[in-house]
Amino acid sequence: MLSFQGEHILSVNQLDRDCIERIFAVAKKMEPYAKKQKQTTVLEGAILANLFFEPSTRTRVSFGTAFNLLGGGVRETTGIQSSALAKGESLYDTARVISAYADAVAMRHPDAGSVSEFADGCTVPVINGGDGPNEHPTQALLDLLTIERELHRFGQNIDGMHIALVGDLKYGRTVHSLSKLLCHYKNVKFSMVAPDGLQMPTSILDAVENAGHKIELVNKMEGNLAADIVYQTRIQEERFPSQEEANKYRGGFRISQSIYSAHCKPNSVLMHPLPRDSRLEANELDNDLNSNDNLAIFRQVQNGVLIRMALFALTLGVENKVDKYEVDV
Ligand code: CP
Repeated sequence: MLSFQGEHILSVNQLDRDCIERIFAVAKKMEPYAKKQKQTTVLEGAILANLFFEPSTRTRVSFGTAFNLLGGGVRETTGIQSSALAKGESLYDTARVISAYADAVAMRHPDAGSVSEFADGCTVPVINGGDGPNEHPTQALLDLLTIERELHRFGQNIDGMHIALVGDLKYGRTVHSLSKLLCHYKNVKFSMVAPDGLQMPTSILDAVENAGHKIELVNKMEGNLAADIVYQTRIQEERFPSQEEANKYRGGFRISQSIYSAHCKPNSVLMHPLPRDSRLEANELDNDLNSNDNLAIFRQVQNGVLIRMALFALTLGVENKVDKYEVDV
């Protein structure tokens, strides 16, 4: 089992059910600090290097927010062009340099495997904030925590639930990581709702099947959204060979309040990793759902801060000291 302290968090493959439950237990203890009902200085003097070589709003800002909420400081670089990678520096050299400045690293990069490559040269814990189409482990953890909390409202558990994963399941790294985490649970029914050409990769389907879960592969939303959790995704146009290819799919699978009323269950929970593409030609999750109580997208965002606080506390070995460093609010 992952011992956490001093370790990198690069893939959900490192996590078993005990690890997940440990992260969730620490995340829940972080709630009063995230809500600013309590304040801690447990990471005072520590520095997070927040290295984002691909666009991000939530993951970048929430990693920084999580570190600040634990009392630490944050140094950032955004975009390859504003870093020495643009001058040909290797990920290994960058990692050796950053290790001299920081106590922890959060990193996003457009290439699959790049964050692991960086971690090989890094002497402080590295947390993967998304490596190309490969993985987004902290998003999967926050999604799973959200699913647990949302189902709890209706007296349900993750074991035995029905989840519909919708949209770009080929390039959407969040659904890859989430599916793998769900392999640690029992009797989950998966509806993989994707247009032809964007279905879930075989390796993920095999993992889900080997975990004993039931899978339906379907290419239309109608009749396939009556699930406990409906997890919509954006067409990941930046990962397609061309914009023309991506345009064939944008706007194909849209969920609006009328689609929700016609095809979801009365209390289906609607999730999306965000950003949702609000441009008219895409609009996969319509603004007319914003007042729907079962739209959990902004609760996902709040849970993301808790998960990232928990991972920093665990990898830096301070998870049992947070309350000892409380200061007056
Ligand atoms: N969900 C997510 O990864 O969002 P950002 O791209 O804004 O970080």
